[in-house]
Amino acid sequence: MAEILWPDSQVDLRGNVELEIGFGRGDFLERVSRLNPHITYVGVDRSWGSVKRAFRRLKDRRNVYLVWGDVWAFLMFGMRDVRFHRVFSLFPDPWPKKKHRHRRMFSPDFWKLLSVRTKEDAHVSVVSDDLAFIRWAYENALRSGCWWGYISETERRFGTKYEEKWLRAGKRVYQAVLMRDGMCHFRIPEATLRYPKFKTLKVRGSLKGDYTLRDSAHLSVKDVVFDREGGKVLVKAVVSEGHLLHKVWFEVVRKGDFWTVRPSDFSKFFPTPALQSAMDTLAHLLGDHPL
Ligand SMILES: C[S@@+](CC[C@H](N)C(=O)[O-])C[C@H]1O[C@@H](n2cnc3c(N)ncnc32)[C@H](O)[C@@H]1O
Repeated sequence: MAEILWPDSQVDLRGNVELEIGFGRGDFLERVSRLNPHITYVGVDRSWGSVKRAFRRLKDRRNVYLVWGDVWAFLMFGMRDVRFHRVFSLFPDPWPKKKHRHRRMFSPDFWKLLSVRTKEDAHVSVVSDDLAFIRWAYENALRSGCWWGYISETERRFGTKYEEKWLRAGKRVYQAVLMRDGMCHFRIPEATLRYPKFKTLKVRGSLKGDYTLRDSAHLSVKDVVFDREGGKVLVKAVVSEGHLLHKVWFEVVRKGDFWTVRPSDFSKFFPTPALQSAMDTLAHLLGDHPL
């Protein structure tokens, strides 16, 4: 039975594990997981619509895991003991406009992160109709210093929605194939979270707004809900940190003589220094005397 997982889920997987980044409808996963029942396939896609559609097609497969979330978060925090043997990215969004370039995967940092999450003999295939994007991804791989490979036009048919679309439009399909060349260093931001405390809750003007945190991270407070009778404040916030986005409801709760700030259980967040800094900032904003 296929499973849907959060990006930071831990699963003990044995044998060869292959990863597809941005599986869309799940066409490729559907085919390869049927042809290779001895291989485990992990697909990551940040669109819930894609995850739902692909799950409907793949739910009976025992060798498929679908991760709903951003690939950066997954590669940093998910399945930490797994090293992928093959990685496929088929027709990733090329973000052609310069102002959107930062949204692209396959920057030098992304290749470094891929190198720490793959086996020594791993191959990565990036496939697209956009040759300029393929060249950009390939050059970044070489620049990262941990991959070597080649670019070619490919006759291979992956059978995905976007491949069909571009072939119907008369376009050609290109691939960059990269092989591991040593291992790069990539620092995954991590912290043991400490929940800040303060004595007196300050009730004053709106907290909504943007705050700068350490290491160019940002805290954006979207909403604040006071539950005075229940002795609780809820703060809806987004913490952005490099390629990571934490969408969090922070709880500020009264415990005996003091108040404490912590992320609520139903939020999606990662234990990083920026998240710690966001909680410390909220304690300063809400408390008279942070302890
Ligand atoms: C253009 S579609 C290609 C889908 C499929 N591979 C195909 O060839 O038909 C790109 C897919 O990548 C997903 N995606 C884009 N950026 C992503 C990210 N940072 N993390 C995970 N998935 C992402 C999108 O949600 C979308 O499903």
